[in-house]
Amino acid sequence: MGFISLKNAGYEYPGGFRAVDSVTIDIDRGENIAVLGQNGAGKTTMVKLCNRLLCPTEGDVFIGGKNTRRHTTAEISRIVGYVFQNPDDQIFHSTVEREVEFGPKMMKLTPGQIRRQVDDALEITGLSREGEENPYNLPWSRRKFITIAAVIAMNTEVIILDEPTAGQDLAGTRLLQAVIKTLLDRGKTLITISHDMEFVAENFSRLILMADKRVVEDGKPENVFWNFEALKKARLTQPYVSRICRSLDIGGNIIHLEDAVEAVMRRALRPHKGF
Ligand SMILES: Nc1ncnc2c1ncn2[C@@H]1O[C@H](COP(=O)(O)OP(=O)(O)OP(=O)(O)O)[C@@H](O)[C@H]1O
Ligand SMILES: [Mg+2]
Repeated sequence: MGFISLKNAGYEYPGGFRAVDSVTIDIDRGENIAVLGQNGAGKTTMVKLCNRLLCPTEGDVFIGGKNTRRHTTAEISRIVGYVFQNPDDQIFHSTVEREVEFGPKMMKLTPGQIRRQVDDALEITGLSREGEENPYNLPWSRRKFITIAAVIAMNTEVIILDEPTAGQDLAGTRLLQAVIKTLLDRGKTLITISHDMEFVAENFSRLILMADKRVVEDGKPENVFWNFEALKKARLTQPYVSRICRSLDIGGNIIHLEDAVEAVMRRALRPHKGF
């Protein structure tokens, strides 16, 4: 059983709408996973089962061996931190620093630990100089980083990022890339929802594709992004690099730009028959 384990887990919203149906996945410590799928596929609902914001209405979810049915959201939130899709659903303090220190304070850490974890989280997310700002004076894309910092400051084993790439410019995307790398270097387990195929191809080691409430594919990016049946089911496209390689008839399941350049150069330098 993985550190996070969903066993035939499903979720039906109170009005009777089923958003997740019979999902079985195992996630180990230190994994770096991207969850992909069209709008409404059930991604957010599925990850909310992983941090006990929602309790499954069918099947079971285990976090670190704990069945989420038998534990409170407060208990599970010490293990799994969740960055909401919309930062404005999460921010309710008048300064960036107060927002980021809220979680560690709730965890009743010592003042010294709180200070260290807040400073660390602000630094990683490039917010050290904005601690006294009102979050709502900063743009939406920066507010997303405030919520990321708030979760990093809790120092949970698992961090879920719900669409962190949405609305980010190049600088924001690069910062996000650096944040992910830092967290992985620290041994964290990451689950990230994204619609950005290029970002996903460059930054994750396992992809979970969802379509119509279910997981339709789960594997390494180089396999998933060349599995046309699965991509069709999830109504997703390959990253540009893979699309270019495909149209040039270059095989090898390429998803990274450097590999594509190398393959194109190899072909260009290949001696012509007949010379
Ligand atoms: N609170 C709710 N009550 C009823 N239905 C809901 C609720 N929240 C979500 N849904 C429905 O559940 C389905 C899955 O929603 P979910 O937010 O999990 O999808 P998603 O894959 O995250 O989509 P997106 O990419 O748009 O964020 C959608 O049809 C949505 O309308
Ligand atoms: Mg969502």
